[in-house]
Amino acid sequence: MSGKLIVFEGVEGGGKTSQIRRSQAWLSASGWLDQLRQTTPALPDPLLITREPGGTELGKYLRQLLLSPATQETLHDRAELMLYAADRAQHVEYLLKPHLAAGGLVLCDRFTDSTIAYQGYGRGLNLSLIQQLNQIATGGLTSDLTFWLDVEVSIGLGRAQQRNKDLDRMESATLSFHQRVQHGFQALLHQHPERIVRIDASQSEQVVFEQIQTLLSQRLQQWYPQLLPL
Ligand SMILES: Nc1ncnc2c1ncn2[C@@H]1O[C@H](COP(=O)(O)OP(=O)(O)OP(=O)(O)O)[C@@H](O)[C@H]1O
Ligand SMILES: [Mg+2]
Repeated sequence: MSGKLIVFEGVEGGGKTSQIRRSQAWLSASGWLDQLRQTTPALPDPLLITREPGGTELGKYLRQLLLSPATQETLHDRAELMLYAADRAQHVEYLLKPHLAAGGLVLCDRFTDSTIAYQGYGRGLNLSLIQQLNQIATGGLTSDLTFWLDVEVSIGLGRAQQRNKDLDRMESATLSFHQRVQHGFQALLHQHPERIVRIDASQSEQVVFEQIQTLLSQRLQQWYPQLLPL
């Protein structure tokens, strides 16, 4: 894969979506994307902004099933796990791999670490089973850089609630569930320091973005030395 996959992770309300939007605006306004475009003639746009679940047509249905507020028939933990895996398999094959193979850059809202944190640490499903499922769903694709937007669970959930009063199925899970998820992200940081960077997301949106900018500038310069620095 000649392209690069950058993932934004973390509990609800950490600022993943906001920071992806800011990064996109910055890369575009700086002219850097225009330079990248010259090297990726096969792609209509060298930057792909996407998310899990929900990046593909199938994924949009799965996202609805996964995040709609709880119904009378509770979604079983193992069914939930496999719906996320189905979303990921479709996303990787139809969107991520072709874009990366053509040399493009991807900013992805959640990826494999979320499944380990939410379904593994949060729901308590077997971690090695989840790793196998992640492997099957991704065909071995891993992120080149993952920003873990680390914010205290209660702050993150408070922000999510401010944003939209009706919480989705995940957001309305118990505080202790989200705390286990948070613990999962901490464990992942220790296991994968080569690809995961922790950002203190309790800071203002602007300060968080400045830190992301600094790290992204460094990495993009390493990865694309032929392009002018940001
Ligand atoms: N650093 C910050 N400080 C204060 N508020 C923030 C910060 N970052 C984002 N917000 C606000 O918090 C809310 C949640 O942010 P955002 O939607 O980007 O988070 P998210 O990580 O994508 O959440 P989710 O996991 O629910 O998709 C938004 O209303 C956003 O404007
Ligand atoms: Mg979001």
